[in-house]
Amino acid sequence: MKLIIGSDHGGFALKEVVKQHLTSLGHEVFDQGTHDGTVSVDYPDYGAAVARAVVAGEYDFGIVICGTGIGISLAANKIHGARAALCTDPYMARMAREHNDANILAMGGRVVGPGLALSIVEAFLNGEFAGGRHTRRVNKLMALETF
Ligand code: RB5
Repeated sequence: MKLIIGSDHGGFALKEVVKQHLTSLGHEVFDQGTHDGTVSVDYPDYGAAVARAVVAGEYDFGIVICGTGIGISLAANKIHGARAALCTDPYMARMAREHNDANILAMGGRVVGPGLALSIVEAFLNGEFAGGRHTRRVNKLMALETF
């Protein structure tokens, strides 16, 4: 898959782990930054940049990581067309794809450890949108952007 990943300083360490893992599996991963975990940066910059690229169709999915995953998921979801899901376990990640057709996975680098995070990523990327009644709900969700 063609993926884009981004984080602030709070998510930097986990971003590096996830990026390396996905690359070793053969995925193409663009790193939006941040590239230095010792420098404090602002999560909206990275959440928005990843979301814009995903919504533009440049990548299959995006992954965003900050300390909790909250700020960067909020930022990503401000971009029209983004459906960023903050997940703390693999079940949430699978459901985010199957029910919500999420196009961005958000995680907290200070919340989940690397092993759990990789299981979350795997569940997300292996999940498939179930369609059916969920299509109606996702359509209603996206229609909220115009109001
Ligand atoms: C940065 O200290 C922290 O606020 C950020 O990574 C994130 O957790 C915000 O939601």
